[in-house]
Amino acid sequence: MIPTWAQLVYLACAIGFVLALKGLAGPRTARAGNLVGAAAAVIAVVVPFGYLDLDHVPLILAAIALGSLGGVLGARRVQMTQMPQMVALFNGVGGGAAALVALLELEHMGASTAEFDLAATAFTVVVGSVSFAGSVVTFAKLQDLMTSRPIVFGGLPVAFGVALLATIGLAVWVVAEPGVPTGVGLAVLGLLIGVLLVLPVGGADVPIVISLLNAFTGLTVAAGGYVLGNVVLLVAGTLVGAAGTFLTLLMARAMGRSVPNILFGALRGGSTLGAGSASDRPVRSAGPEDVAILLGYAERVIVVPGYGLAVAQAQHTLREIVDVLGERGTRVDYAIHPVAGRMPGHMNVLLAEAQVPYDQLVEMDDINGEFPHTDVVLVVGANDVVNPAARTDPAAPIYGMPILAADQARQVVFLKRSMRPGFAGIDNELLFDPKTTMLFGDAKESLAKLLAALKGL
Ligand code: TAP
Repeated sequence: MIPTWAQLVYLACAIGFVLALKGLAGPRTARAGNLVGAAAAVIAVVVPFGYLDLDHVPLILAAIALGSLGGVLGARRVQMTQMPQMVALFNGVGGGAAALVALLELEHMGASTAEFDLAATAFTVVVGSVSFAGSVVTFAKLQDLMTSRPIVFGGLPVAFGVALLATIGLAVWVVAEPGVPTGVGLAVLGLLIGVLLVLPVGGADVPIVISLLNAFTGLTVAAGGYVLGNVVLLVAGTLVGAAGTFLTLLMARAMGRSVPNILFGALRGGSTLGAGSASDRPVRSAGPEDVAILLGYAERVIVVPGYGLAVAQAQHTLREIVDVLGERGTRVDYAIHPVAGRMPGHMNVLLAEAQVPYDQLVEMDDINGEFPHTDVVLVVGANDVVNPAARTDPAAPIYGMPILAADQARQVVFLKRSMRPGFAGIDNELLFDPKTTMLFGDAKESLAKLLAALKGL
């Protein structure tokens, strides 16, 4: 029985998690929200020491110390562009931990245990294992430890179906005759399903699957909280499950795709990643001085930031350029595509780091009408989010994705290193458009030269 004081502290922690989510919903309050959530999590971890007569305290403390060290070191060292794989890893270990706890609980369960509790335990073992294995594969894909292309082999759908049916059968067995060995079998099947689920997903879709697995982990933790009678786990898990589900749906919508298409598109023969191309058709390229003149005499400029800006870490130089243009009387905004970069809010976080005022960041739907009246669009390390193939080419993997209407502006300048395609792996006709100028090179170096040239105007 959990004492009343501990229940009350758990309730306060649960409220802390809700407030944390609320805070995380906006850039101004995100830092405070993060701190509130972290504080609530620390308190929730400490509380059981106050009322439980725990065995193996030194081991538990050692595990907490090890986990905290891994978390702090990982979070400090990770590059912003590697954030999705870190989230995948943290999420995976969360699901794995919940599955292990449920497996251990099975040891104390018997024929007298309520069937619903047993079903919730079996669910936790399976879905936690799926989340763990799936997250490990997504991590390997994003970290380039394996190919990020969809992996499909003959018989994959059959293997997936058989594993799913076997899991349902074994789960029924666990409910009828609870035991650790059957539980371990269930976990192995869960691991297999996790791997088979993620293998056919192509690189550009992996962040969405991470979010989906995140939702799975949330549901696992919520079910674990139910089995253990722990309100804080129940609430935290439900919040993660709901937030992960919404995030998955929002990302899928921003890419103009359905979640089943993202998960199973490759099985139906259509690759979720383009063939990859670097066309040798002629393009117009210019040096930083020419681009500076173009920008320096423009009245209206829109900057489209993308993944390459994050790779080059050029956000500070970009802000300086926008400041200089502002001082010259040019009106400049940043157009934010919902899936620019590699994670939700990637560009917002990146530009906030360079202290770009929030009111200069304009969402896609609000800025798209302004492109036809824009003199120059400066596309910095972005590609897919301005690729007109999303509107015109039904065969393109990004077909249907809403894009920034950069092609409607008077002039477009692309800052990228080569003619290589973006993440979707397809050519971008806008690069070959007569009104487009290419400024080749690493974005940070190009922007530094552009800034110097602008100051000299
Ligand atoms: P991308 O289409 O991936 O294009 C990025 C461009 O940046 C590349 O063409 C690359 O060209 C250039 N680049 C890379 N490093 C550079 C550097 N150091 N300096 C200058 N340029 C550099 O990026 P995007 O337009 O932001 O689109 C995001 C893609 O990710 C979309 O396909 C989206 O669907 C997908 N995605 C995003 C998310 C989220 S939530 N953001 C989730 C899932 C999928 P070079 O190699 O020629 O330099």
